Amino acid sequence: AAAATPGGPVIGFRAVPVSAQDTVVVPEGYRVQVIIPHGTPLNGRPATRSVLEMTAAEQEQAIGAHHDGMHFFPIEGREPDQGSSTDGLLVLNHEYIAPRFMHARAAGLSVGDGRLPVPEGGRDAEEVRKEIFAHGVSIVRIARQADGQWAVVPDPRNRRIHGATPMEIAGPVRGHPLVRTKYSPDGTRVRGTLNNCAHGVTPWNTYLAAEENWAGYFRNTDQQDQKPDLPREHARYGVPTGQARYNWDQVAGGGDEFIRFNVSRTGASATEDYRNEVNAFGWMVEIDPFNPASVPVKRTALGRFAHEGVIFAPAREGRPVVAYSGDDSTFEYIYKFVSARPFHRATANGSLLDEGILYVAKFNADGSGEWLPLVHGQGPLTAANGFADQGEVLVNTRLAADALGATKMDRPEWGAVDPRDGRVYFTLTNNARRQDGQVDAANPRARNEFGQIIRWREQNDEHAATRFTWDLFVIAGPEGNSRTASGAPLGADSLFACPDGLWFDADGRLWIQTDIGEREQLRGNLAPFGNNAMLAANPVTGEIRRFLTGPIGQEITGVITTPDRRTMFVNVQHPGATTPAADFAAGRINSRWPHGGEGVPLSATLVITKADGGVIGT
Ligand code: FEO
Ligand code: CA
Ligand code: CA
Ligand code: CA
Repeated sequence: AAAATPGGPVIGFRAVPVSAQDTVVVPEGYRVQVIIPHGTPLNGRPATRSVLEMTAAEQEQAIGAHHDGMHFFPIEGREPDQGSSTDGLLVLNHEYIAPRFMHARAAGLSVGDGRLPVPEGGRDAEEVRKEIFAHGVSIVRIARQADGQWAVVPDPRNRRIHGATPMEIAGPVRGHPLVRTKYSPDGTRVRGTLNNCAHGVTPWNTYLAAEENWAGYFRNTDQQDQKPDLPREHARYGVPTGQARYNWDQVAGGGDEFIRFNVSRTGASATEDYRNEVNAFGWMVEIDPFNPASVPVKRTALGRFAHEGVIFAPAREGRPVVAYSGDDSTFEYIYKFVSARPFHRATANGSLLDEGILYVAKFNADGSGEWLPLVHGQGPLTAANGFADQGEVLVNTRLAADALGATKMDRPEWGAVDPRDGRVYFTLTNNARRQDGQVDAANPRARNEFGQIIRWREQNDEHAATRFTWDLFVIAGPEGNSRTASGAPLGADSLFACPDGLWFDADGRLWIQTDIGEREQLRGNLAPFGNNAMLAANPVTGEIRRFLTGPIGQEITGVITTPDRRTMFVNVQHPGATTPAADFAAGRINSRWPHGGEGVPLSATLVITKADGGVIGT
């Protein structure tokens, strides 16, 4: 179907306007249902307590917080994107938490930085466990009911994977000295996955959860204690030297389950403390949603960085598996993994991701580009330059990419591959830190508040190629500072800023989701863009149209349809996050979405259908 229409995919809906309202708006002729808000039990029964009152044990068996990347796996579990459009396993990431919207004790506290004050003597273990369990991934069966509404269905495969779930380390870093800890002296296991932003779906129908801003969950106080400087595998990723993001290491009488978040050198050797715990974070985590007994696996050959997500090129029999991944931080890179072994549909599994070459992208000013291999012993990645083996290259992926001279990008977020022509698109969300002397062709604006979408075509349309040609699909921003593929600027129906989520549907519509940061939403130069939104683009004509606007304070992230393309799932993350601390302390919250009344705002999933039962976007 995708190749049939030369003008590109049909975009048939009327654009919705920019919104600052505390509600979800979709085009005329479309309907929205809200499902699985944070705290929804996985057993299909109603919650017995609100999120504020629920226990850690209840959270461990319920939908987590801050819904993000997501995939719908048709219940038959055979081939990717084939099977039921009314019954499936919805798998979604829970990126982080808002402690002030999770604990009853937070009411009336002024908490501006997302962190609750540490009580004298330390944090409460039950409270911290609840926060750890609210992170990670949910696997939940959902099905369309006779009345057309979707509901959670009890199923033995429903489960939570969270910040304390035991998992395996696979690939070149398995067993490496840099991941040996008191918990896993042989460096093969770790507890938990954290800050799971976007995701990927493998050609063998498993789910990959990315670990993005994991560094802040830990802290290393060695410098305060006059010990040597932070190791580079901490320092280059920004492990804090002061307090950790949620102070999980500061639990009263805390055992190793909490102490592990302090990665200072406290013992005589690496297996007597947790100095290496953080080195087991920053990876892509493979989960088989159809096997509830399966242990999640960190696939280290894909590199260690602030993984936004991962996008696989269409798998071809007998050819390598290729996957693209962005490192979402200012001046970081875009990577590509090419498997050493070929893909064979009958036998493919996650071990294909354990051997291969990780490349980093260099975008040249003339529109050409090259993939630079991160291979120990090649170029500057030698023992003489401090890379003793491939494990050190991968644990220090950012430093290896620095050494190769890759292009420093404006925060690479999601990628997507056009089903029509194989071109790869990536969002570059913004980079206000880029100065005049630091612009380049791919990142052309200093103080880039609005972001852009880059795309490239691999040489000979071979995803494993090491050369490509690229251009900018859209430069986002206000009418006077934007450009679409047709050369025209963005207008009333298409204005957007800070592209983040990105996904192609099977017809070739490019869905763009925005994430204007919490400090910028409805303020300054970002005010005209309103609440975060989702738009649809025609990659052939460059046309863009706004499809959905979300409530106050949230970001729109995560999008997938059923195989028939008639039901779309979209996530709303952190409504109310822009509530000022003083307002919160005074009992005022700027969003009560989705429940209204006096309820705290909750992340949740939208189910979008067309009233006439048609394909979404037409
Ligand atoms: Fe979690 Fe880069 O967005
Ligand atoms: Ca994101
Ligand atoms: Ca983002
Ligand atoms: Ca967010």
